[in-house]
Amino acid sequence: LSEGAGAVAQGSWDAEVDARLQTLDEAGRRRRIRTLAGTGPEFLLDGRAVVSFASNDYFGLSQHPAVVAAAKEAADRWGAGAGASRLVVGSRSVHDQLEAALTKWKGTAAALVFPTGYAANLSVLQVFGRGARIVSDELNHASIVDGCRLARAEVLTYKHADLDEAALLVEQAPAGRRVLLVTDSVFSMDGDAAPVAELSQLSARTGALLVLDDAHAVFAMPELDPDATVLRVGTLSKMLGSLGGFVAGPAAYIDLLLNSARPFIFTTAPAPPVAAAALAALQLLQGTEGAGLLLRLRSLADRMRPSAPSPIFPVVLGREDAALAAAGALLERGLLVPAIRPPTVPAGTSRLRVALSAAHTETQLSTLLAALEELGCTW
Ligand SMILES: Cc1ncc(COP(=O)(O)O)c(C=O)c1O
Repeated sequence: LSEGAGAVAQGSWDAEVDARLQTLDEAGRRRRIRTLAGTGPEFLLDGRAVVSFASNDYFGLSQHPAVVAAAKEAADRWGAGAGASRLVVGSRSVHDQLEAALTKWKGTAAALVFPTGYAANLSVLQVFGRGARIVSDELNHASIVDGCRLARAEVLTYKHADLDEAALLVEQAPAGRRVLLVTDSVFSMDGDAAPVAELSQLSARTGALLVLDDAHAVFAMPELDPDATVLRVGTLSKMLGSLGGFVAGPAAYIDLLLNSARPFIFTTAPAPPVAAAALAALQLLQGTEGAGLLLRLRSLADRMRPSAPSPIFPVVLGREDAALAAAGALLERGLLVPAIRPPTVPAGTSRLRVALSAAHTETQLSTLLAALEELGCTW
C-alpha cells in the first residue's frame, strides 16, 4: 500500500456513528438502559421505589430461594462457566438433567439446550429452513425473523394469525419443496395466542414442519394434532427465571440440530449455575408450589381481562410520543411499564406493554389499574 492510500479511500467511521446516533435522537428513538436496585417486582430507581411490570419473570422464579440455592451449589461444584461449546468440552451432568426434564415437560422424544432462546430460534430456522419454504406469521418475534435470514430460504409471511392465508402459502409451495410453518404460540408484544391446534392440523394434512415458539406460553395450550411433526422452541429466561433456550422434538431432528446448528456449535454452552437454576425452577413449576403460582398468575391476569390468553397486556396508543408520555406518567406514579415502539412493533401501534407476574401483589395490580384508568388507557 502506498503511503496514505487508506486515508483517501475510506470514509470516516466517527462521522458515520455520529450521524446514525443523531438520526435516532431526531426520531426520539435513542434509548438508554436504566439501572435498578433490588430484586423485583419492587425496585429502587434513582432512589425511588417503583413496581416493575416490565419483566417476563412470570412466576418470580428468578428470586426463588430454591432456584438461587441451586445456582450457588452448581457454581461451587462446577464453577462459573462451561468453558466452551459442549461438542468441544463436553457437558456437565446438569446439562443432561436439564434436557431430560425439558423433554418430559414438553412430552417429546428429545431436547437440546442453547445459550438463549434467541439462539434456539436462529438454530431451528438455519437448520430446517435450508432449501425449504418458510411460512411465518407477520408478528413473529425478531429471533424468528433473524433465523429466516440466516436460513437464506424462501420466506413468505402471512397476515397475523390468518389461517386461510397460512394454508394458501403452505399448499401452494412448488412440488417437492419442503415447508416449515413457524409461529409464536403467544405473541410477545400483543399477548394473543396463535391458532396452534389449527396450524397443527394444517401441518398434519400437508407434511409441513410446525415450529412453535413457546417463550410466552404460560397458560395451558390447546392439544395439537398428533400427526403433525412439531418442534417446540422455548426459553429458560421467562417462566423459568434463568437464562438459555431449548428446542424439543423428535430425536433425529434434535440430533441434526446438535450436528448442524451454528448457534449451538460455535458458542459456549450455558453456564452450569444458569442451567442448574433453570432445572430447579422447572422442578418447582411442575410441583404443587408451581400449580399455586400458576393459579395466582391466572387470577391476576383475570383482573386485567377475564380468560386472557396470556399475562401480557398491550395498551395500544398509536403514536410513539403518546406511548412515551404514558410510560412517563406511570413512572411518576411509581409504576415501571415499558413503552414499546417501532421497530419492535409496527409503526402507528406504539404501546405500553404490561406483563404480570405471580410475584405481583393484589395491591400492586390495583395501583396499576387505577393509574391506567386515571390516564384514560384502555386495553
Ligand atoms: C417470542 C420470543 N421468542 C424468543 C425470545 C428470545 O428468548 P431469550 O430471551 O431467551 O433469548 C423472546 C424474548 O426475548 C421472545 O419473546
